[in-house]
Amino acid sequence: MTASSASRKAPARCQERPLPSRCFFGIILVALVFLLFTYSDACDPPPTFEAMQLIGKPKPYYEVGEQVKYECKPAYFYIPPLAMYTVCDLNHTWLPVTDDGCFRLTCSVIKDPANGRAVPANGTWEWGYQLHFSCNEGYYLIGKQILYCELKGLRPKWSDKPPRCEKILCSPPAKIKNGKYTFSDIEIFEYLEAVTYSCDPAPGPDEYSLVGESLLYCAGSGVWSSAPPECKVVKCPFPVLKNGRQISGFGKKFSYKAMVMFECIEGFYLNGSDTVVCDGNSTWQPPIPECLKVLTPSSTKLSTSSVSGLVTSCLHFPKLL
Ligand SMILES: *[C@@H]1O[C@H](CO)[C@@H](O)[C@H](O)[C@H]1NC(C)=O
Ligand SMILES: *[C@@H]1O[C@H](CO)[C@@H](O)[C@H](O)[C@H]1NC(C)=O
Ligand SMILES: *[C@@H]1O[C@H](CO)[C@@H](O)[C@H](O)[C@H]1NC(C)=O
Ligand SMILES: *[C@@H]1O[C@H](CO)[C@@H](O)[C@H](O)[C@H]1NC(C)=O
Repeated sequence: MTASSASRKAPARCQERPLPSRCFFGIILVALVFLLFTYSDACDPPPTFEAMQLIGKPKPYYEVGEQVKYECKPAYFYIPPLAMYTVCDLNHTWLPVTDDGCFRLTCSVIKDPANGRAVPANGTWEWGYQLHFSCNEGYYLIGKQILYCELKGLRPKWSDKPPRCEKILCSPPAKIKNGKYTFSDIEIFEYLEAVTYSCDPAPGPDEYSLVGESLLYCAGSGVWSSAPPECKVVKCPFPVLKNGRQISGFGKKFSYKAMVMFECIEGFYLNGSDTVVCDGNSTWQPPIPECLKVLTPSSTKLSTSSVSGLVTSCLHFPKLL
């Protein structure tokens, strides 16, 4: 207890002759010792907050009944009526106080861009939050889609300049060999404007097939809905199925998208698809199936066959049973 009483005099000396650096350690020591031995006489340092700070310097301890005042931190501003002070209470705790009266400063309001929208994504223009931009149908964004309201020094500022919404336009789609498209005299296409490709008449006996999409539309800035089609001669080989037969799609020539169906003859079964289509590369898709021999003696046949048949079956295929 001697330590306590001895150091209790320290603060008095400091106040008489203020020597900041030496006093600092003295104050810390006093505070610790004081808190240990005379806790019941004082309050802890008052609570700290994100949005507000103590007015004046904090002290190592506070007496019961002592009042401390707060102010909003520099990047915040106060909106009444919440109290901005607290008191060291009789039971040595601080009366409840909150920083809910301090609000973050806001960035300047940015209006909707022409042909678009600016939406405070977090429902506020305060610093620390985001502003999201979008463009109306048929327009696209030039610049940053998201701006951040940030503190630059103590002032809230936008992270970038607001973006613009520009009209979506396409330059003409690609020309193709052996074909053409509609509106080929137009130099600028607007959003969703479309062209239709067609193939030229073929010089030889086989027609050109249009492989791919015939209709393309301007789907984005300088972007067409798909690659242009090809105009080419498509000729799939004559479909031959061993131990099977074609049952539909008969013809002399099998051009683009020709469809053929098959079945197998008695005693064979189909492995693969029974329907194939001639694709743009002059190949059948999926590949032509196979007819495989039916091997297993079925159990129904066994049960209805004669005793001798059963015997021979068993002798012939002992492993399969
Ligand atoms: C005493 O302190 C507690 C918190 O520890 C607080 O809830 C209570 O209201 C205080 N009582 C009085 C009478 O101040
Ligand atoms: C603000 O909103 C955006 C988009 O909804 C979200 O990703 C982000 O986490 C939010 N920011 C804060 C600080 O809540
Ligand atoms: C059936 O066809 C598939 C694909 O071509 C092949 O992997 C499989 O081995 C065939 N089955 C028989 C029993 O030949
Ligand atoms: C088939 O044609 C498409 C274009 O239509 C091409 O991308 C693909 O590589 C071709 N495949 C083969 C196997 O030739």
